[in-house]
Amino acid sequence: MQQLSEVKSAARTVWARGDYDAMMRAENLYEVGAQLVRRLGIGAGQNVVDVACGSGNAAIPAAQAGARVTGVDLTPHMLDLARGRAQEAGVDVEWIEGDAEELPFSDAHADIVLSTFGCMFAPRHDVVADELARILAPGGQLGLCAWTPEGVFGDFFRIVANYLPPDPEFVDPPLAWGDEKNVRELFEGTGLALSFERAIWEITHPSVDAAVSCYTDYLGPVNMARELTQADGRWPDLQAELADLFARYKTADGQVVLPAEYLTITGQNR
Ligand SMILES: C[S@@+](CC[C@H](N)C(=O)[O-])C[C@H]1O[C@@H](n2cnc3c(N)ncnc32)[C@H](O)[C@@H]1O
Repeated sequence: MQQLSEVKSAARTVWARGDYDAMMRAENLYEVGAQLVRRLGIGAGQNVVDVACGSGNAAIPAAQAGARVTGVDLTPHMLDLARGRAQEAGVDVEWIEGDAEELPFSDAHADIVLSTFGCMFAPRHDVVADELARILAPGGQLGLCAWTPEGVFGDFFRIVANYLPPDPEFVDPPLAWGDEKNVRELFEGTGLALSFERAIWEITHPSVDAAVSCYTDYLGPVNMARELTQADGRWPDLQAELADLFARYKTADGQVVLPAEYLTITGQNR
């Protein structure tokens, strides 16, 4: 399917833009990966795969907990960031360029399969869910985090999508991974017993302008939307929509505190 390979190639380009690590640090979001690792009780001797691992949000704390970890991502630039962070943390992780829709592992390879805000961005969710379940060993655990459609990042990604070229019809919306009912359907028949928990991650930016700059400078897809809208004259509209969104969360001292809701999905394999 030619169009599918084009979507993947575009994803590689988009996710290499900006400065993903700087955004993660500004949001303190690496703590969510560490929390997921603690929640699943990951420890020595376990085989862990972090799917769509980016700069290693879940993979690095899993390795720090003593597990044997492989991080897989479509975007080589992300793996470079991950390598640097792992080195800084003093842990060994195997980093592999690969696709969440075609994971480079045999059946039942992993004791734990993780993905924080990662596999939600692969295009065909049913294919991804089948792959996550396929590589999970009997008795293994799945741990995923995804932004919810109802949360502030639901609004945020809907705004940005209006300024990017439309996806082909076969591409599922990323936020569908933040919807319990949809996720249950995706894993139907896989034998995984699923649990769900919604939580809020508070993200503080110094001001509305700083929040707009953080995402437009650092986050690949938004950085791309800025370039496209600067070329077609719609940049002031995008900037104003993002500023309006963030202004809803302005505190008395001018900071922005985003109550970013996300869904944690855990799955126990039979
Ligand atoms: C928002 S980032 C999340 C990264 C990381 N898991 C985290 O928590 O920071 C989304 C990641 O998904 C990756 N990605 C997108 N499509 C993918 C696919 N089909 N297979 C593997 N990775 C993919 C991107 O390269 C990017 O690193």
